[in-house]
Amino acid sequence: MTLSEQEQNEMKLWKRTHSCGELNKGNIEENVTLMGWVNSRRDHGGLIFIDLRDREGKTQIVFDPKVSKEAHQLAHNIRNEFVIAVKGEVSFRGKDAINPNMKTGEIEIRISEMQILSQSKQLPFSISEYSDVGEDARLKYRYLDLRRTEMKNNIILRHKVSLLIRNFLNKKGFLEIETPFLTKSTPEGARDYIVPSRVNPGKFFALPQSPQLFKQLLMISGFDKYFQIVRCFRDEDLRADRAPEFTQLDMEMSFIDRDILFNLIEELMATLFKEILSAEVKRPFPRLDYDDAMSHYGIDKPDLRYGMKIHNLNEFFKDTQFSPFSEVLAGNGKIGALKTEQPEKFSRKNIDDLDLFVKSLGLGGLISIRFKEGSELQSSLKKYITEETAALLKKEMQAQPGDLVFIAAGSTEKVNQVLGLLRIKIANTLKIIPKEQYKFLWVTNFPLFEYSQTEKRYTSVHHPFTAPVDEDIAMLESNPYQVRSKAYDLVLNGNEIGGGSIRIHRTELQQKIFNLLGIKAEEAEQKFGFLLEALQYGPPPHGGIAFGMDRIVMLLAGASSIRDAIAFPKTAKATCPLTGAPSEVSSEQLKELHIKLDL
Ligand code: AMO
Repeated sequence: MTLSEQEQNEMKLWKRTHSCGELNKGNIEENVTLMGWVNSRRDHGGLIFIDLRDREGKTQIVFDPKVSKEAHQLAHNIRNEFVIAVKGEVSFRGKDAINPNMKTGEIEIRISEMQILSQSKQLPFSISEYSDVGEDARLKYRYLDLRRTEMKNNIILRHKVSLLIRNFLNKKGFLEIETPFLTKSTPEGARDYIVPSRVNPGKFFALPQSPQLFKQLLMISGFDKYFQIVRCFRDEDLRADRAPEFTQLDMEMSFIDRDILFNLIEELMATLFKEILSAEVKRPFPRLDYDDAMSHYGIDKPDLRYGMKIHNLNEFFKDTQFSPFSEVLAGNGKIGALKTEQPEKFSRKNIDDLDLFVKSLGLGGLISIRFKEGSELQSSLKKYITEETAALLKKEMQAQPGDLVFIAAGSTEKVNQVLGLLRIKIANTLKIIPKEQYKFLWVTNFPLFEYSQTEKRYTSVHHPFTAPVDEDIAMLESNPYQVRSKAYDLVLNGNEIGGGSIRIHRTELQQKIFNLLGIKAEEAEQKFGFLLEALQYGPPPHGGIAFGMDRIVMLLAGASSIRDAIAFPKTAKATCPLTGAPSEVSSEQLKELHIKLDL
């Protein structure tokens, strides 16, 4: 069947003159052609009003039989999410009909002609702005979910962020260089996604957890300043801020020290926040030693938008008769305390709930002290606190009458961890975390090694190519597991948005670190031999950092999950409801790969 000439003409796509987000009073009386989706339709007696939507916004169009009977008639047949093309004249809406919430709110288009370009089935969920749909449905119909203004804006914001980063780094002399996806295991410590090689039976590629080794090789090649906005793959337990495939802004520089890198990154972040949110970010960013972060906040990524620091009260209780405390002190533990904000909000019941919370995390319990006038206080600990100690405590905690202090005792690690979590819980419960505030923080001097309970051996806190702090190098012989590293994290509002380090650029030191990690020469050779060899051919001193792009976009967008910053994310179970991946493959494919399933 062939189409008649008339039908062919009808099918011919008109030329769009404007987007749906740009017409205003200045365009009145212009004849325009718009195309887009029917966002909503209202039938008002003789007139039909439609909000026509595209990426740029919405425009009200009006079908009036007095302007075109034919178009008005056709408008009866259209439903939400149909795609239409319209021609008409821009006209003023009239003072009373102005919609100040719409960019195009002063005008409407009086339609003379319309084409229906495609129809839509009834949608599985409404596109309207604030509809609350389950994540599985959103991901299954992600292309519809992305029509929602909020999601669309996140994706546009992501594009702007990438562009700003590229322009900024280009100006600073960085080159964007791609590195392979089909490669060998990299050392970030998560599980690898592996890909079988058909032409090399029994052999597998690993998808990179980051371009770590290649970017170091690029420094050895002499590229000096490298960056890449690149996908990374990690098979690890997922959370709101973790995805199995995510994007890094990955960077490496030669002939630099930490301060040069910090300065550059601070300028980059200030530029991003200024351009995207018109927010002034205070520089230089504060720096906190890992040890201090842990003892004051119980976490290596503290949110500095609120206080409630953890204090160490060991000194105040060194002669205490209260046996749970004296036992903790005898065992080198910690008596930690934090002063809550808004103490007037805490009833006996609230305090009991916090006690249960602390117990559920493995500590004996939570003791509270309510300060009163002078050295008066209210606490189950009262009889163990002399007037003098009470005064000292009050000073240490900077407590005013009415203030409430929570105390927990146990092993230092546990007390820090639990009071750190309590601090976050209280801040969330009291809703004291300011929304539009951006508090950056460098956390520095991480330990070089940590003991892994699961692997029963020491592992690298960052990765094995991280250089030790200069003053601590001598300790590699005497007390290696106390050595600090030149690793750093960038934290924003309690989120780790980036991490990196100054690298080892001497083979002997690299070998020594492998030895301390219990990585045998053979294993090192097999895993990273190519890097060790390259380090023998004139490596420059170098260092770098990588940022979680998805996390940065999430924070800039004010979203609560990185999945809202990714166009086509996986679920928390690492599946894709849209495509059905992962899925079975045919027995032929498995055979070709010499793979037998053992399920
Ligand atoms: P690291 O492993 O610390 O360092 O990763 C750098 C940053 O990447 C982000 N990130 C993630 N984002 C989403 N989902 C994940 N599963 C995920 N894992 C990490 C975080 C993190 O701060 N090669 C080193 C960098 C270097 O040394 O230069 C590396 O990858 O924001």
